[in-house]
Amino acid sequence: MQIKDLHISPPLFLAPMAGVTHSGLRTIIKECGGVGLLSTEMLSARRLPNENATLSPLLIKSPIETPMSYQMLVSDPDDIPAAMEALHRYGAQAVDLNLGCPAPAVRRQGAGSKLSEDLDLVRKVVSTARAATDLPLSAKIRIGTELNREKLQNFCRMLAGEGIDYLIVHGRLQKEKFCRPPRWEWIGVAKEAVDIPVIANGGIFTVADARQCLDITGADGLMLGRAAPQKPWLFAEIHHQLYGGPVPPPVNKPALYKRFIDILEATFPAGRQIGRTKEFSHYFARNYSFGHHLGSRVQSCTSMEQVHHVARAFFMLQEPEACTQAWPAI
Ligand SMILES: Cc1cc2nc3c(=O)[nH]c(=O)nc-3n(C[C@H](O)[C@H](O)[C@H](O)COP(=O)(O)O)c2cc1C
Repeated sequence: MQIKDLHISPPLFLAPMAGVTHSGLRTIIKECGGVGLLSTEMLSARRLPNENATLSPLLIKSPIETPMSYQMLVSDPDDIPAAMEALHRYGAQAVDLNLGCPAPAVRRQGAGSKLSEDLDLVRKVVSTARAATDLPLSAKIRIGTELNREKLQNFCRMLAGEGIDYLIVHGRLQKEKFCRPPRWEWIGVAKEAVDIPVIANGGIFTVADARQCLDITGADGLMLGRAAPQKPWLFAEIHHQLYGGPVPPPVNKPALYKRFIDILEATFPAGRQIGRTKEFSHYFARNYSFGHHLGSRVQSCTSMEQVHHVARAFFMLQEPEACTQAWPAI
């Protein structure tokens, strides 16, 4: 997929996820292969100009993490020009506008899904962002507050009309929880309305899901959220099976987990490592039938040293051979 000067190949996107989509996860995904565009988590437009890109866990990145989109959380269009300037300085290759997040803390600021309820304000946000950057610009939306074909399509047309280059659609209504199956057919409704590429998001956990989601939505690409920290190798598998990419090498899960914590220890400020490790472990543990042991033991750790011990002990029980290869005794 070509968006302005940016070549996104394969059209597989990492979803922005607060506390999850950071340098550690992005690096292991990139090392596994198959991802076309990485993402930050949502970044407050108001705070962006004052962030320290080398110290903030939101902005730390390594040279391998490319190409990368930065997601902006906006409530006031006046914050956009300075925020966009900061993103240009930080080396953003694409910018995404968060128009879908239903989290109460985000809505209270007037951002995310709250912003998308005020059409005039959304229009202003998008046109201001468009005027402030030549980078590829996207918007990430949910399918609305209710199932309304016309409303959804008009909204998508308005976004495209204001100049976004591609649209990301999470196939759930604003109030729907993640446990509910996504409504992929409604992503297809959005796709029918616009000529720009549409990226489908929500509920893709396997290669079969990816295939089915593309079939149902007719989308131009896919965005993976929770599957990314659970199976960082899934992009490579989808790339291989759906887009003719190379056969992915066998996965060594203990090695991948260890690589993740090693990266965090090497690149994140000490106080910022353990929270991210707990968050990641919560997802990664789902690869094992007794994964809750990993999840809960890591949750109770107070140091990264403890994490090494409890995680290695867990993997030695689950996959002794793979673990011994990857993780020398401590
Ligand atoms: C922990 C977590 C944090 C998230 N943070 C963001 C965010 O910062 N910005 C955003 O647009 N969506 C955010 N989302 C939503 C995801 O980007 C994605 O739309 C959602 O998880 C559905 O995709 P999935 O089924 O592949 O996980 C978050 C989701 C989760 C689970």
